[in-house]
Amino acid sequence: MAITNQIPPQERKGFFIVFEGIDGCGKSTQATKLFQFLEDRGIKAALTREPGSYGDEFCSAIRSLIKHFQDDINTLFLFLADRDYHTKNIILPLLVDNNIVLSDRYYHSTLIYQLDNLIELIQSSNCSSKAVLEQHGIYNMVTQLNMVASHWLYPDLVIIPTISNMDVLKQRITKQQSEKDELSIQKNYALLDLYQTSYHNLPKYLKEKGYEPNTEYLFVDGELHEDELFQKIWATVRNMISKTVDEQVGRPTL
Ligand code: TYD
Repeated sequence: MAITNQIPPQERKGFFIVFEGIDGCGKSTQATKLFQFLEDRGIKAALTREPGSYGDEFCSAIRSLIKHFQDDINTLFLFLADRDYHTKNIILPLLVDNNIVLSDRYYHSTLIYQLDNLIELIQSSNCSSKAVLEQHGIYNMVTQLNMVASHWLYPDLVIIPTISNMDVLKQRITKQQSEKDELSIQKNYALLDLYQTSYHNLPKYLKEKGYEPNTEYLFVDGELHEDELFQKIWATVRNMISKTVDEQVGRPTL
C-alpha cells in the first residue's frame, strides 16, 4: 500500500486516516470513538490532531500561538509549521511502526479554511481581473506549500461528516464552546456552509493535481446519531484494514 513517497516501499506499513469537516460536524467524537474501538480490539492505533498534536510540547506551543493570531497570513504559516513537525516527528514514525494513525484534521483544513479566507481577502480588493489571476496563483502556491509541509504524505482515507441543517450546527457549536478548550471557533454559519461546499470539491482537485493518487473519501451524514454514524464509518474502515490486520495477527480478527 502506498502511503508516502518518502517512506521506502519495504517500510510502507500502517494506515493513515484523516477526519475532516467544518467545526461542529462531529469528526472529533468519531475519531475518538474509532481510536477506542481499535484499541479495545488490540489493534495498534494512534490518535493525533492538528493543530497541536496531543501531549507534544512544540505542537502545543504552536496551538497557543495560533490562538493569539487572528490574521490569516500568520496563522497559515503557523499551521504549516505545525504540520511539518507533526508529520515528520509523530505521524511518519507511527506509520513505519505499523500503526493505524487517525488524525483529527490535516492539510485539507488549510486548503479549506485559509484558502477560502485568502481568496475572499483578494476578492474584496478593487481590481477583479487581477484578483482572478492571483486567486489561481495563490491556490497553487498554498497547495504546494501544504505538500511540502506534509512531506507529500497523503491519507489512505479521509472521513468527512457533513451537516445540512445550520440550526443543528448552531446548537452543537454553542454547546461545545462551553465545554472545550477551543481555538477561535468559526461562528459565521454562512461561511461554514461555503467551506462545506469546498470540502466536496477538494477530492477532485487534489486527485487531478496528482497529490492524492490513492486516497479514498467518505462523506457521511453528520446529523445521524453518533452510534449510527460510527457504524457507517466502521464499515468502510473495516473493509480497508481487515486484510492487513488479519495478516499481522495471523488469523481473522475483525
Ligand atoms: P479545534 O479547537 O482544534 O477544534 P475542531 O478541530 O474540533 O474544530 O479548532 C481547530 C480550528 O482551527 C478550526 O476552526 C479549524 C481551524 N484550522 C484551520 O483554520 N486551518 C488548519 O490548517 C487547521 C488544522 C485547523
